[in-house]
Amino acid sequence: MTNKIKELLQSGIIGTCVDVKGWIRTKRVSKQVMFLSMHDGSCQRSLQVVMDPSLISEQLLTQLGTGASIAVSGNLVASQGKSQAVELQANQLTLLGSAPDYPLQPKAHSLEFLRELSHLRFRTNTFGAVFRIRHAVSYAIHHFFHQRSFIYLHTPIITAVDAEGAGEMFRVTTLDPLHPPRNSDGSIDFRVDFFKKSTNLTVSGQLAAEAAAMGLGSVYTFGPTFRAENSNTARHLAEFWMVEPEVAFNELPDNIVLAEDFLKFLLDYILKNCQEELACLHQRSIGNNGNPKHGIQQMPLMDRLNFVLQQPFARVSYTEAIAILMDAPPNKNGSFTYPVTRWGMDLQSEHERYLVEHHFKRPVVVTDYPRDIKAFYMRQNDDENTVAAMDILFPGVGEIIGGSQREERIDYLRQAMQRTNIQQEDLNWYLDTRRFGTIPHSGFGLGLERFVLFATGMENIRDVIPFPRTPGHVAC
Ligand code: 4AD
Ligand code: MG
Repeated sequence: MTNKIKELLQSGIIGTCVDVKGWIRTKRVSKQVMFLSMHDGSCQRSLQVVMDPSLISEQLLTQLGTGASIAVSGNLVASQGKSQAVELQANQLTLLGSAPDYPLQPKAHSLEFLRELSHLRFRTNTFGAVFRIRHAVSYAIHHFFHQRSFIYLHTPIITAVDAEGAGEMFRVTTLDPLHPPRNSDGSIDFRVDFFKKSTNLTVSGQLAAEAAAMGLGSVYTFGPTFRAENSNTARHLAEFWMVEPEVAFNELPDNIVLAEDFLKFLLDYILKNCQEELACLHQRSIGNNGNPKHGIQQMPLMDRLNFVLQQPFARVSYTEAIAILMDAPPNKNGSFTYPVTRWGMDLQSEHERYLVEHHFKRPVVVTDYPRDIKAFYMRQNDDENTVAAMDILFPGVGEIIGGSQREERIDYLRQAMQRTNIQQEDLNWYLDTRRFGTIPHSGFGLGLERFVLFATGMENIRDVIPFPRTPGHVAC
């Protein structure tokens, strides 16, 4: 049986015979001794293998380069070196696959270069840490909701609705793009398409989750979502994973408490369970950043995570946020790309980051946005101009969560659909949830990658998803 490096480093007993399989990171060789550093993906650290080079052929010795895969047998011994407690004194080594011309040599490669090799970057220290943390966050998400008796709901990937009403959808069809059937007015006749209607990839599982919450009480979805928005930024993906809880009888303040508890639970979980990965990324963040005194975004990674964990999130209404931004030095001296000029405009990422990083200096929950810049399903406030929305803004990331209390009054919901040109017949099933035993309810969506971006201190969202899809880019 193959031993995992994680177990050997954690609880390996000196003197035991072990078999390890993995990939070579580095090799150092002299006449008497060869040192290999090898990894097998089970943990952040590598195992040092020590071997007498005369035990293997000259030819094999030259093939043992970075990236080659090997199987090694020997004894676990106390290490003479300072960097590790144990090492493997090898007496047998088999080459599984050589790697001549392996492009990832043991030196610092730029993240842009590694992005071009997204299929190989799993083997680097940095991406090993990122993807182990992504796993831990996913696990902790299920843990959080399970312990609060939420039901995990699998919502459809192919849908016939535009849940956000923003029209940013990828179409799903089996029609021949060269000769689609047409109606007499020239439009495409989707009645002969696979589902006998126009369908698309989901932008959000929320509407289905709302229906389920009105029977199951507390539910959450966690799956891939797709947005055909042409945003080529460091925070947008065309395919990303979203977690969406939906809770019967929750009103906006309950929703905010749930979201803050949730984010803090996830942070606490990785601080406790991903120490080696965070240590690796923390080192990187010290290399990248200057003086920690200059604000949260300049803090080394672990200080930043602990800081956010300990601070109560600031709360501010959209109206107050606009007043702060209008008065802000970067607005007055013209350094915002999008000047803040009036109530009613949407907040840009630079405005969100100003609020978090410079004004409040901690995560901020912005509530009660103008009705006209938010989705049709949000509950209208008594002022008739704003809705019971909440966005949570994080340092370095901007919006990490978007959510709201939902409009449970059918007349208001119908009016909102009319205003936003949503056909009632397409959402008749959704209106049924308001026809039969309607209730106040609320929910939110957390973009998994935006959270992992924050948790790892990476700067580009393409570096926290295994195979990123962005406008003009789908590599593997
Ligand atoms: O604010 P959004 O669009 O909200 C919804 O989709 C609601 N249906 C959620 C709900 O109330 N159940 O998206 C929610 C979150 C954002 O805050 C952001 O973290 C992430 O999803 N997100 C993206 N992440 C990466 N790339 C994109 N293009 C994203 N668009 C949204
Ligand atoms: Mg949003």
